[in-house]
Amino acid sequence: MNTQTVPPLAPDAPVVLEMTNISKSFGAVTALVDVSIRLRQGEVLALVGDNGAGKSTLIKILSGFHQPDTGTIVSQGKEVRFASPRDARAQGIETVYQDLALIGDLSVYHNMFLGREYRKRVLGLNLLDNGKMREQAQLYLDTLGISIPSVNSTVDLLSGGQRQCIAVAPRSIRHQKSWCSTNRWPRSACARARMSWA
Ligand SMILES: Nc1ncnc2c1ncn2[C@@H]1O[C@H](COP(=O)(O)OP(=O)(O)OP(=O)(O)O)[C@@H](O)[C@H]1O
Ligand SMILES: [Mg+2]
Repeated sequence: MNTQTVPPLAPDAPVVLEMTNISKSFGAVTALVDVSIRLRQGEVLALVGDNGAGKSTLIKILSGFHQPDTGTIVSQGKEVRFASPRDARAQGIETVYQDLALIGDLSVYHNMFLGREYRKRVLGLNLLDNGKMREQAQLYLDTLGISIPSVNSTVDLLSGGQRQCIAVAPRSIRHQKSWCSTNRWPRSACARARMSWA
């Protein structure tokens, strides 16, 4: 087992994300009323609450899936509005969902580049650049100190914790800004990602 100490949060760490007075209703259902959170660089912030408290709604607003009825989002010191998840991602907000959105019978490196595959043209054909993705995937894992038997293994063969690392690694490296996950994550996966920004 690989154990590492997560450094304490610096008291003067800059604020990287702030959501202020966020409210959201779905018809007659009020999901959020004046919710505010502040996240500092290197911080792992957990949202904890009862079923139906509004956690997923807040994260869906942060990831551009829903638009808030009221409130503001400031990312890296700049007020932002996300029209869609693609828009949020382009502005540095990555989301890892509870089901991880991995494909079990694809390799680790293919999963790490799902939807963002490297491609190359060979004899006029548009092919996957497997060599480049394999190399880049290994680099991501090494940078985060994540040990996986091989990036060629299928995800089905990995442990639950290793799968979580596969889901988090490309996001934390690519943006090195903010990412959010839906609930029920172990501390280890969050801590590793946090260390990558510290
Ligand atoms: N798309 C939607 N349409 C209508 N109501 C919704 C929608 N999404 C969420 N809600 C309602 O908003 C409230 C907050 O739901 P949300 O999913 O954010 O809670 P949660 O804290 O994530 O709960 P859980 O711990 O069960 O995942 C609930 O009453 C839910 O039924
Ligand atoms: Mg939820």
